[in-house]
Amino acid sequence: MEALTTPPELWDEAERWSLDELRAVQLNRLRSTLRTAYEAVPHYRAAFDAAGVQPDDLQELSDLQRFPFTTKEDLRDNYPFGMFAVPRDEVVRVHASSGTTGRPTVVGYTRRDVDLWAEVVARSIRAAGGRAGDIVHVAYGYGLFTGGLGAHYGAEQLGCTVVPVSGGMTERQVQLITDFEPRVIMVTPSYFLAIVDEMERQGRDPAASSLEIGIFGAEPWTDQMRGEIEQRCDMHAVDIYGLSEVIGPGVSQECVETKDGLHIWEDHFLPEVIDPVSGEVLPDGERGELVFTSLTKQAMPVIRYRTRDLTRLLPGTARPAFRRMEKVTGRTDDMIILRGVNLFPSQLEELILEIPELAPHYLCRLTRPGRMDVLTVLVEAREASYGEDAAGVGARLAHLVKHRIGVTVEVEVVEPHALERSMGKAKRIDDQRHL
Ligand code: DLL
Repeated sequence: MEALTTPPELWDEAERWSLDELRAVQLNRLRSTLRTAYEAVPHYRAAFDAAGVQPDDLQELSDLQRFPFTTKEDLRDNYPFGMFAVPRDEVVRVHASSGTTGRPTVVGYTRRDVDLWAEVVARSIRAAGGRAGDIVHVAYGYGLFTGGLGAHYGAEQLGCTVVPVSGGMTERQVQLITDFEPRVIMVTPSYFLAIVDEMERQGRDPAASSLEIGIFGAEPWTDQMRGEIEQRCDMHAVDIYGLSEVIGPGVSQECVETKDGLHIWEDHFLPEVIDPVSGEVLPDGERGELVFTSLTKQAMPVIRYRTRDLTRLLPGTARPAFRRMEKVTGRTDDMIILRGVNLFPSQLEELILEIPELAPHYLCRLTRPGRMDVLTVLVEAREASYGEDAAGVGARLAHLVKHRIGVTVEVEVVEPHALERSMGKAKRIDDQRHL
């Protein structure tokens, strides 16, 4: 695997700004976003009034703390178009995220928003090592989900040749990768593993494929998973983050030269990390819930949107002025509380990948046979070791979990391909406690 880096000559102007320049631009943009939100969106007017703040109360960036949060609930209450700050006929696109329950949340884009989105995704692909002229295979789902179209417009903007495959039909994915020889693939890491398994099933060596860069996101994945993919496929695996409420993919991106967390494109998205319980803003470096305020969006500005994603902010490295966010290890919603111990599926992923006989396909099943919750980790054996002492391998994982995380879990090692593959975001938790 060849080392990659993106020299400053290729960066956008904003990527070269000094910290002072960045903060000055952010302050201006934040002021005008607050004003627009207050004037054009009844929800924000009511929320600011209730909190006793006016847009002009913002004198410096830290004054943002005085403004109220926006939650998924607020978006749902204003379903479908109540959060739009422009007349509906200026909205050229909508996307929606399917909530697990009830109404989806709807987001809208003006022509300029679509262009801005393409710009941040293009910047992300370039930071991942992609270049104009590359063939980019997009296997994120196309449709209301922002992954497919977000990646698509960004890759086109960068000057790439886009193959808009969307998710599913895994055999055909392999066929197209073999025939078109893309250099870059954009897909969820869990679905990429399904594609790699299919390559191997067809007798193809994934390390011999044309792919040099994978831009993986839309779900949590660990550094251990990065190691697995890079080694098996002889390619760079970098992380892309985003959420539809903020814009879609392209809010932050891991740079291929450092692979040390994701640089937030702070010229457009202002991050904060808060204590999820008290709502207090935490200093950089402390872990908590990530909150975003959009700085340049027209159709649907968001003020202090609570992502429910857990991470911490770190100083910039490969792009010095932009802070990084640590890889998102979990969401407040996905936290399993097992007999008083908090844990996330990603912590199990790390441990599973320490055991060579186990494949990174797993599911956490929660049941309540008596009065206590039981967590059963269903995990696939690797093809090569299937049939060998499954009970012993399972016991080793249970021991690691007990030792490192401090809880007792059941482990069931299942045969290769026994667990359902997702074409998009993997489902890691199967909660049967309330059935
Ligand atoms: O998942 C946007 C996206 C598409 C990002 C393609 C990256 C690539 P939503 O469907 O609204 O949007 O889901 C957003 O997914 O709040 C996180 O919980 C999770 N998520 C997204 N990217 C990552 C990542 C898209 N790199 C929600 N690591 C977010 C961990 C991620 N979780």
